[in-house]
Amino acid sequence: MRRRLAPAALVIAGSLALAGCGEGDGGSGGAAELSVGSAYMPQPVSDEMAAGFLTVTNKGGTADALTSVSSDIAGRVTVHETTGGAMREVESLTVPAHGELVLRTGGDHLMFEQLKRKPKEGQTVSVELRFAHSDPVEVEMPVKAATYTPTTGH
Ligand code: CU
Repeated sequence: MRRRLAPAALVIAGSLALAGCGEGDGGSGGAAELSVGSAYMPQPVSDEMAAGFLTVTNKGGTADALTSVSSDIAGRVTVHETTGGAMREVESLTVPAHGELVLRTGGDHLMFEQLKRKPKEGQTVSVELRFAHSDPVEVEMPVKAATYTPTTGH
């Protein structure tokens, strides 16, 4: 039942976004306040692996780190960084205080391995992000065309 997490995921993502906008209680810094946006998966060409991209925004004054990821469609999801055109698995990626962790084509990304089904354009994939300090975040990641690239800028 791969859709079981969908409604909760939307509620969680929405409440985090609202909490982020409602700051301004005067705290100097404060705990990490994470929200996740711009998530997508290009429809994979491989039957075995897929990549995923998203942005984690931290409106809080304390850095956090993305430490592990899981998904209903993959036996294993790893966090990769790309340096000099080569990618390698990393233990975690930092979400800076008052900053963003941006996963994008050609840069850091999620790697879905041991696919249980091949995601197709128009479907969504449930992903759970876990962090060093903050509560886990559920994301519904839409599957886009294999050639999709998001428009950049805000
Ligand atoms: Cu990779």
